[in-house]
Amino acid sequence: MVIQKAGEDPNVSPEDIHYYEPSNGHGLRHDPFNAIIAPRPIGWISSRNPKGQLNLAPYSFFNAFNYDPPILGFASISWKDSVQNVSETGEFVWNLVTKELGEQMNKTAAPLAHGVSEFEIAGLTVVPSRHVSVPRVRESRAAMECKVTEIIRFKNWKGETVQGWLVLGEVVAVYIDKSLIKDGVYQTALANPILRAGRGGDYVEVTEDRMFEMERPAGSSLPAFHGS
Ligand SMILES: Cc1cc2nc3c(=O)[nH]c(=O)nc-3n(C[C@H](O)[C@H](O)[C@H](O)COP(=O)(O)O)c2cc1C
Repeated sequence: MVIQKAGEDPNVSPEDIHYYEPSNGHGLRHDPFNAIIAPRPIGWISSRNPKGQLNLAPYSFFNAFNYDPPILGFASISWKDSVQNVSETGEFVWNLVTKELGEQMNKTAAPLAHGVSEFEIAGLTVVPSRHVSVPRVRESRAAMECKVTEIIRFKNWKGETVQGWLVLGEVVAVYIDKSLIKDGVYQTALANPILRAGRGGDYVEVTEDRMFEMERPAGSSLPAFHGS
């Protein structure tokens, strides 16, 4: 199929498409960007500063980026405490946010003075890690200890630096509540993870009835340790 004019579909009236160029504004009541790229898993990131003061904050610009070695990343729209801490210590822990931890996760997004621990504010239990000096959240049903591999400052397409940093870290240890593993397979829905949706307070909860399966095309590549 050939589209006749740049950006226009001959079968669809331009009246039916909301088109915008982000540098000129979106023209809507609420920026649709993160409502379209949704839902997003939440990186609930624990970190500590060199004085040993703890920090915990949610980041939904978060995902997994590599299998071997496993690499996670979260992005901060400005130089926040979590980025400051991981830049100084080179370590962080990712903690899973499940439905029952939603309210507490939300409390950890409050702007607190640097050095004030969100663990305390949200009434969460600190458990020491094995390979990093940053603790995990005991109430989380899965957690991953990470060592920072890169901190990348974002640029626009013209190559100019902008506000925004991506922190990437290699996962060096993983903790999973055994009740989430059935016949050797981690059961995503059993944990009821929550994900960030679009507007202000929107979230999506993963439940068993929302899951479905789709086989990949024959011959498509899977990392050796991923399938079976
Ligand atoms: C669910 C959720 C997701 C968030 N995602 C991000 C994000 O991806 N990037 C970001 O910069 N801030 C994000 N925030 C806001 C930060 O959590 C908030 O600014 C927090 O105070 C940062 O903490 P810190 O300064 O201790 O790192 C999010 C908040 C919530 C509630």
